[in-house]
Amino acid sequence: MLDLQDVSYQYRGKFALDGITLRIEQGGAVAFIGPNGSGKSTLFKLMNGLLFPSRGRYRFDSEEITEDKLKDVAFSRRFHQRIGFVFQNPDTQLFCSSVQEEIAFGPHQMGLAESDVNRRVEDCLELLQIKKLRGEHPWNLSGGEKKRVAIAAVLAMNPDVLVLDEPMNGIDPKGKAFLRELLLRLHASGKTIVAATHDFAYVEGIFRRAVVLTEDHRLVRDDEAERVMSDSVFLKQHNIM
Ligand SMILES: Nc1ncnc2c1ncn2[C@@H]1O[C@H](COP(=O)(O)OP(=O)(O)OP(=O)(O)O)[C@@H](O)[C@H]1O
Ligand SMILES: [Mg+2]
Repeated sequence: MLDLQDVSYQYRGKFALDGITLRIEQGGAVAFIGPNGSGKSTLFKLMNGLLFPSRGRYRFDSEEITEDKLKDVAFSRRFHQRIGFVFQNPDTQLFCSSVQEEIAFGPHQMGLAESDVNRRVEDCLELLQIKKLRGEHPWNLSGGEKKRVAIAAVLAMNPDVLVLDEPMNGIDPKGKAFLRELLLRLHASGKTIVAATHDFAYVEGIFRRAVVLTEDHRLVRDDEAERVMSDSVFLKQHNIM
């Protein structure tokens, strides 16, 4: 479903991704691991059409994703409805003046009827247990609350693929356990899940596969998640642990 062929990305001449080749099948659950600055967020922005390869090719559902194609409003809408992105920092994602509007934004953009939009908003408020925050301004929420709202806003689009950049960041232990259950449920319902994480304990059991990026922005291992996460020699060698 996601297919990257020899993808590199440079920020003003400096590599952030170097020759990444990988495929993610529909219904897959893949964890991305790597030290700070290895390129996980850059890779996710690329998967979501916010950045484009400096070299190589990215295909989503067999269709190459390019800047030109995403200028087409209809194409861009379809693409962004199918793949949802929860940013590492929710402040970059949230821009509406209330939680409720934030969650309604995507479904409105999709052109859904008002009653369907409202139903999705209610479902997502319920799903993330944030009903009591509906009228709040996202700026005034705590870090963990913002993260929940950001996840709810993405789920409201009902995307096939969920890309989550450090979803457990800033979430308290009870919230992490809850989020873990939610991701398991979403995966069981057929969603493809891609996430960057440092939180091995909480993501255990969600991911079959782990992809490891190194400090020099290359893909060094693509393997069963359990095997990677229990390989402390390897993790230490690459400054992950
Ligand atoms: N907007 C930017 N401009 C220039 N360089 C950037 C920019 N964003 C990221 N970089 C650089 O690209 C590299 C990869 O960054 P990226 O944010 O993708 O890493 P990451 O693996 O997500 O790290 P973390 O674990 O800290 O979230 C780093 O060297 C970083 O300094
Ligand atoms: Mg990051």
